[in-house]
Amino acid sequence: MEIIIQPNPGVATSLAARLLGKTIREKPEAVLGLATGGTMEALYRELVAAKLDWSGVTTFNLDEYVGLPPDHPQSYHHFMRENLFRHVNVPPGRINIPDGQAANIPGECEAYEGKLFAVGGIDVQLLGIGTDGHIGFNEQTSSLASRTRIKTLTPQTRKDNARFFGSEAQVPHHVITMGIGTILESRHCVMLAFGAGKAKAIALAVEGPITSMNPASALQLHPKVTVFMDEAAAANLTLKDYYRWVYDQKPDWQKI
Ligand code: GLP
Repeated sequence: MEIIIQPNPGVATSLAARLLGKTIREKPEAVLGLATGGTMEALYRELVAAKLDWSGVTTFNLDEYVGLPPDHPQSYHHFMRENLFRHVNVPPGRINIPDGQAANIPGECEAYEGKLFAVGGIDVQLLGIGTDGHIGFNEQTSSLASRTRIKTLTPQTRKDNARFFGSEAQVPHHVITMGIGTILESRHCVMLAFGAGKAKAIALAVEGPITSMNPASALQLHPKVTVFMDEAAAANLTLKDYYRWVYDQKPDWQKI
């Protein structure tokens, strides 16, 4: 796992945007796994500003709330449209987001996995992290081999996300999310974590045991993970200095 600690979220976000931009330029037909949440907003702004050609890109979002229509202001369909899709030339037919209104949810989840398989999997999967270590909406004790399915949110996640909805009562109880097994099949996982609120989850994900009590710790099993964080999110890491040293020693050909 590559740990990149930057002085503030802005610098870390720019580096992550550069990595994504490079992916799209080098592989115009790239399949990107996209994430939502406050952390991603600045990243998408930078990607829009980079004026990349998205005409060959295919996207798969991690998750969606069950029951919210695509035009609901808190749906992830809406988040993606507002923050990214309406600003770039990604063909609508290549955008994939789980349908939270599907009448047959297991069928929708299976079809989503089928679509992912059909395009040959994800080149770069973006990830945020919940304060409890969740990735996508894979809450604590999610199977580390899980596939796309319905999940019930924890009270903590509903509380965390209440800021977007106005009140906790309005946060849906259920979601569709790619599984941890699905995420681990991406060829490169890129996680972003900023702020003191993420410090505990990050320390456990990077340096703790691999456990479904911190779903992000499953990333330790993945051969290619890059985690961008600010100083605040890095605060609890024991080997902080080592990660900085490794980053400083990067050979030119490895630099982002
Ligand atoms: C939600 C999303 C996650 C995201 C998390 C953290 O739960 N489903 O994918 O990582 O929020 O969001 P934020 O970036 O707002 O802290």
